[in-house]
Amino acid sequence: MAGKIPSTFIDDLLNRCDIVDLINSRIPLKKAGKDFQACCPFHDEKTPSFTVSQEKQFYHCFGCSAHGSAIGFLMDYDNMSFIEAIEELAHQAGVEVPREGSQDSGPDCRPLYSALEQASHYYTEQLRSHPQASHAVTYLKQRGLSGEIARDFNIGYAPPGWDNLIKHQGKDAHTTKQLRESGMTLESENRCYDRFRDRIMFPIRDHRGRTVGFGGRILGDEKPKYLNSPETPVFHKGRELYGLYEAHKALRKIKRLLVVEGYMDVVALAQFGIRYAVATLGTATTPDHLERIFRTTPEVIFCFDGDRAGRDAGWKALNTALPLMREGREARFLFLPDGEDPDTLIRKEGTETFEQRIQNATPLSQFLFDKLAEQVDMSSLDGRARLAELAKPLIAKLPQGVFHEMMLKALSELVGLNSVHLKTQTPPSSNTPTRGAKRSTLQPMTPVRLAITLLLKQPELAQLPNLPTQWKTLEKPGVDLLTELLDTIQKNPSLATNKGALFERWRDRKEGKYLSKLANSDLPTQEYTAEFRDALTHLQKQLEEQSQDLLLKQYQEGSITEEQYKERLRQQYPGK
Ligand code: UTP
Ligand code: MN
Repeated sequence: MAGKIPSTFIDDLLNRCDIVDLINSRIPLKKAGKDFQACCPFHDEKTPSFTVSQEKQFYHCFGCSAHGSAIGFLMDYDNMSFIEAIEELAHQAGVEVPREGSQDSGPDCRPLYSALEQASHYYTEQLRSHPQASHAVTYLKQRGLSGEIARDFNIGYAPPGWDNLIKHQGKDAHTTKQLRESGMTLESENRCYDRFRDRIMFPIRDHRGRTVGFGGRILGDEKPKYLNSPETPVFHKGRELYGLYEAHKALRKIKRLLVVEGYMDVVALAQFGIRYAVATLGTATTPDHLERIFRTTPEVIFCFDGDRAGRDAGWKALNTALPLMREGREARFLFLPDGEDPDTLIRKEGTETFEQRIQNATPLSQFLFDKLAEQVDMSSLDGRARLAELAKPLIAKLPQGVFHEMMLKALSELVGLNSVHLKTQTPPSSNTPTRGAKRSTLQPMTPVRLAITLLLKQPELAQLPNLPTQWKTLEKPGVDLLTELLDTIQKNPSLATNKGALFERWRDRKEGKYLSKLANSDLPTQEYTAEFRDALTHLQKQLEEQSQDLLLKQYQEGSITEEQYKERLRQQYPGK
């Protein structure tokens, strides 16, 4: 392994380079006071809130909070790793990167890259000229691949035979070693032969465009269908994403990435104009994959088959993604109809319909709660409490921040527990005063449901004086029904004492059943009046929170600045 880079070297390097020059060569900066400004490259905005300080050698965006040094900028903007960013700056400064430790600089991988590049070249050449390439060309055509897309992805052909590549690259000791180390040949009983024979070749390129390995597809039904390069010093399956380099090449800015399962999926999607698909290489999505994805874009959509295996893979991806869901990042899940993959589906239904699917992909939060809800009986208090138990350890994996908070809140709404209790994991209201103690048993009901139930049990509650009303604009399931119920009783006082008549109003409506169920549910309280007022007050508070969340969302999306956000918050809620 390469030795550690001394931190004093990094300090010196950052002193030598100028972050303003570095950034200005990529995004034109304008002088503003003693700093420089531009529209932020890390989020969409129309007025510049991205600031570069020459004095501090630091950039900061007031819109999306992106910030860092010259190294950080290269990592985020050019998608370099930490080491790569340092090498780039050192290169610009004309200095060598020193390494600490004895066996310092590590293996020199350049010969491997060059061997792989030559191999890629050879395979594309063979697809054009090898006498037996015609069945490969026919196969590709049969699968609907255009020549243009085959060129974009450097698709090639490894001809049949044991040593075509070996003969082409050379048999000297040096070349033999490189071919072996780059995974292109196999050794058996002291003889070397080509790993890939009579296969369609998909070169796997790293994010900088260097060929690091191959996937080879058999033309018929033999096994294995795909043969992949083994792990080598330059190829790590768990890190590379097939198609990422091609996406960078095709798009000026990658707004989102679609993670699919196969080589052919990436290629077919690209051919149909979806240039932002990448594939993991026969492995599950790893944290390294996701780090790379989120360095490229804040938005990822995982695409899976709709079958059991696909759902399981989706759940696995969700678990991998949780710890990485920092503020501003978004993960969604797209499950395709049974028996289809992106390749077959987009050819069948076309780009527009497929993109519609992407548009409608399930948000992480929904996938998480839906999946857990399948495992419990959501209609019972016990079931909902169980759901909370299942969700808590998952939510705990999320980094602290707004998304974490939102998930807790969503959970508390779903199961009717107070988010504070969820967070601190203390049992609900165990030591609050008398009425609170009684409330604790009620809490697994949402305030909306509680209010409806109380109204059904005692419709006169609708006639209480000075009930809050603003909550009616709250966007939440059940609020409309509660509003209608309340208004109906208020407008028709006779219904307050005639429950039967009240229920008749809903007889032929789908909500009727739901109302009957609630009317028959047990409420372990006698204090209907206080509970009813409490429930409405609670809704009132949720309305406040909802508009606060909206503000926060606008701020996160960059449509308002931090200043504007704070200002509006103050206007709406002078106390905060
Ligand atoms: P699939 O079996 O779903 O194949 O494997 P596919 O991508 O639809 O391929 P086509 O359309 O039949 O050509 C999905 C991915 O799993 C890996 C490959 O990366 C493949 O793209 N895989 C599959 C292998 O590595 N080896 C195999 O034998 C099969
Ligand atoms: Mn397929």
